[in-house]
Amino acid sequence: MRIFASLSVAVLALTTFTVSAQTAATPKAPHKVNQKSAAPQVLVAQTPPMGWNSWNFFAGKVTDKNIRDAADEIVSTGMKDAGYIYINIDDTWEGDRDADGVLHSNSKFPDMKALADYVHSKGLKLGIYSSPGPKTCAGYAASLDHEVQDAQLYASWGVDYLKYDLCSFREAVMTKQAPDDPAAQMRLMEAAYAKMDKALKATGRPIVYSLCQYGWDSVWEWGPQVGANLWRTTGDIRPQWNSIYSILGEQQGLAKYVAPGHWNDPDMLEVGNGRLSLAENRAHFSMWAMLAAPLLAGNDLPNMKPEIKAILTNPDVIAIDQDKLGHEATKAYSDGEVDVWTRHLSGGAMGIAVLNAGSDRYSTHPFHLDLAKLGLHGAQKAKDLWTGKEMELTQNMPLEIASHDILLVRIAAPK
Ligand code: GLA
Repeated sequence: MRIFASLSVAVLALTTFTVSAQTAATPKAPHKVNQKSAAPQVLVAQTPPMGWNSWNFFAGKVTDKNIRDAADEIVSTGMKDAGYIYINIDDTWEGDRDADGVLHSNSKFPDMKALADYVHSKGLKLGIYSSPGPKTCAGYAASLDHEVQDAQLYASWGVDYLKYDLCSFREAVMTKQAPDDPAAQMRLMEAAYAKMDKALKATGRPIVYSLCQYGWDSVWEWGPQVGANLWRTTGDIRPQWNSIYSILGEQQGLAKYVAPGHWNDPDMLEVGNGRLSLAENRAHFSMWAMLAAPLLAGNDLPNMKPEIKAILTNPDVIAIDQDKLGHEATKAYSDGEVDVWTRHLSGGAMGIAVLNAGSDRYSTHPFHLDLAKLGLHGAQKAKDLWTGKEMELTQNMPLEIASHDILLVRIAAPK
């Protein structure tokens, strides 16, 4: 399915966005983006959104105070200055609808407008969460048949970002209305996402639109057409190496679908969560940056260790993620358990990630980097983005990379 998908995205690329030459294939079918209606909109997410989301650490326990604390910490830790701007409330903020159908927040969130004002007073932006179904994944009230009302409500509070999570829409609408017709189910899903996009745009407020439907029906093919600024490509991430590495593997073939304003979302960061080792945190963050992924931290900010802060705020790594060209890395080759990814950066620069995915391989069997396989000729001047040191890469040079660790370099002038 991904092979055919490249054609339809090429259409988008040619007509709407600035994208790489690799997407410029012959258009197959006309795209549906209405440039006229899109023109007056303030452009959002021109680089992958950065911020913090409550789910990966707090899950269903998140409160107003946690969100305010997160906003405070984003500022005091220097994360705001590093680019983290969105403070996103995930699931479990929702209360009941009143007689007029207006949704109210629950007792954990006594005053959403006041909370939004607080977040904005810090120079940050606020994100919120809902579902196109009757209930969210955690079983709270969601937006089915209240899309316009909810979008207006979010805008009245001052919400800047919506994560819209498929969840109960599957059983309540897709399988109910089209029980034996998977294609019709997918059309219902797309229509639901388009409906909320329309409702958001009608508010006149610039709101980042984040699709969360786990990559179903090759969402990267049609996400931009329903106004998505980002779309989840996989199921939920967990703070474990296997989860991170398997999500990374699932990104292959998706690079051609991204462009400024439209990003693949391999899910929020687990940096600093669970029992990830420092190497794993570093590798996870490096690869998400190489993938031009949204960088939504999901850790316990008030208790963040200095070494985790150092990872999340590394300016050189963030610069890879936020590179204006908006390209995503592709895997150049694997050798044994070592994967080599490259990314084209603005100004003709190049990012290279060498990831040791093995559980033990180390200096007894150094990996030899084949620059020729990356299209490079001879020795290259590079910067190691984790040590900050200049280095020289040479053909077949041996690299000793610990288990689950990474070498991430930037070559300013590749030869
Ligand atoms: C789904 C999403 C998660 C999170 C939860 C909330 O599982 O994929 O990211 O939003 O729902 O219930």
